[in-house]
Order: sequence, then C-alpha cells, then structure tokens
Amino acid sequence: MTNNETVAAPLLAAIRTDRLLLRQWRAEDLDAFAAMNADERVMRHFVAPLTREQSLESLERLRRHFADHGYGLWVLEIPGEAPFIGCVGLLQPNFKAHFTPCVEIGWRLAADYWGQGYAREAATAVRDLALGELHLPEIVSMTTPANERSVHLMESLGMRRDPADDFDHPKVPDGHPIKRHVLYRLTRDEWRKLVSYADAT
Ligand SMILES: CC(C)(COP(=O)(O)OP(=O)(O)OC[C@H]1O[C@@H](n2cnc3c(N)ncnc32)[C@H](O)[C@@H]1OP(=O)(O)O)[C@@H](O)C(=O)NCCC(=O)NCCS
Repeated sequence: MTNNETVAAPLLAAIRTDRLLLRQWRAEDLDAFAAMNADERVMRHFVAPLTREQSLESLERLRRHFADHGYGLWVLEIPGEAPFIGCVGLLQPNFKAHFTPCVEIGWRLAADYWGQGYAREAATAVRDLALGELHLPEIVSMTTPANERSVHLMESLGMRRDPADDFDHPKVPDGHPIKRHVLYRLTRDEWRKLVSYADAT
C-alpha cells in the first residue's frame, strides 16, 4: 500500500486503549474543540489561536479527511468522564515540501489533560495502527523546535530527526517565529525493531 491509497473505513472508525476511546467527530464536539483551539496555551506554537468559525471549518475538513482517506484525526474521549479531551491521528498534509506526499501523525489536547500520558497513549495506538495494520511505509511528524512537549512525544514514540530534513513551513508567513520546523520520521522497519525489542523486554 502507498501513502495515498484509501483504506477500509470500518477498521478505523474507533480505537480503544486502556483509558481512552478514539472516535469519529460529532457536531456537538464543536464547543470543546473551539474552546481548545482558542486557548493561548494550546496554540502557543501555531500561527494564532482559532476563531469559532475557523474551528468549525477545521472540524468539517477533519471529517472530510476520514471520508477521503479512511483515517484522520480521531477525537479523544475518556469514557464515562470526558467526551472530548483533544484529538490525535493521521493526516496527509495539504502542502508541498521535500517530504510530501506523506502521512503525518499529529496531536492536540486541551491543556487540562496535559501531563497525564493521554497523548502518548493515544499516539502509540495510532503509530501502531499506521505502521502495523495499515502497512504505511513511514509516518512523519513536524513542529517548531520550541514545542518541547511535542518533540518529547515524537522521541518517546521512537521517531528520529535528521537536521537535513529541517524546513521552512510553507503555510507559515515569512518572518514568523514558528516558520522553521523540524521533521521527525519513523519507518515501518524501524518500528518493527522497536516493538519486537519492547516485546522481548
Ligand atoms: C503536545 C501535547 C499533545 C503533549 O501532551 P502531554 O500531555 O505533554 O504528553 P503526554 O501525554 O505524553 O504526557 C507527558 C507526561 O505525562 C506524565 N504522565 C502522567 N501520568 C502518566 C501515565 N499514566 N502514563 C504516562 N505518562 C504519564 C509523564 O510524565 C509524561 O512524560 P514522559 O513521557 O516523560 O514520561 C500537548 O502538549 C498539546 O496538546 N500541545 C498543544 C498542541 C500542540 O502543540 N500540538 C503539536 C503541534 S505539532
């Protein structure tokens, strides 16, 4: 399978982990999604926080991504406790760069839920789905180097940065402090070694 092929949707509608349900978007997620996207702490390493209108457009794009590709950013829910704490998943970037086309693993959690291992738990399940069941040859992740929490998560998933892959993000205005980005990669072969080592220890 190549990065661009559509995969069967039923496998991907929802994923369970120990503490989380990764599920499809519902219209009523908008309030919590918009609140997260308007929070300066959450959006510190983006160009700007989003208005409610921008969040609505983004939610519609995210739903379309599932329809187009069979995977996307799943909503993170703590069953019985919190219907929306953020989103984690797989996206095909819609810009051109030296590493595109590709499949990106990405995440955004409401600040109240940071530091509890939820992002890592969800991202580990998504990484294993992407490189396991979906047979993708590679996943990438990108951020501004100052986003230490995100970089830490990439590294804890076993992803590696080659400084030769650093790039200026084409969607960030020239001169903006987050223009420069780092790229982390994990190939299917690297992942296989990682999980077989984890199984053996
Ligand atoms: C990036 C982001 C998702 C990281 O979230 P996070 O909560 O820091 O990440 P984690 O879920 O991995 O939690 C980190 C820490 O929780 C702690 N923790 C507490 N309870 C835990 C548990 N039960 N299991 C595992 N870790 C736990 C650990 O100390 C862990 O650190 P470690 O990996 O060194 O062990 C979050 O900061 C975010 O949403 N940022 C804003 C959006 C953003 O910048 N997105 C990325 C754009 S590229």
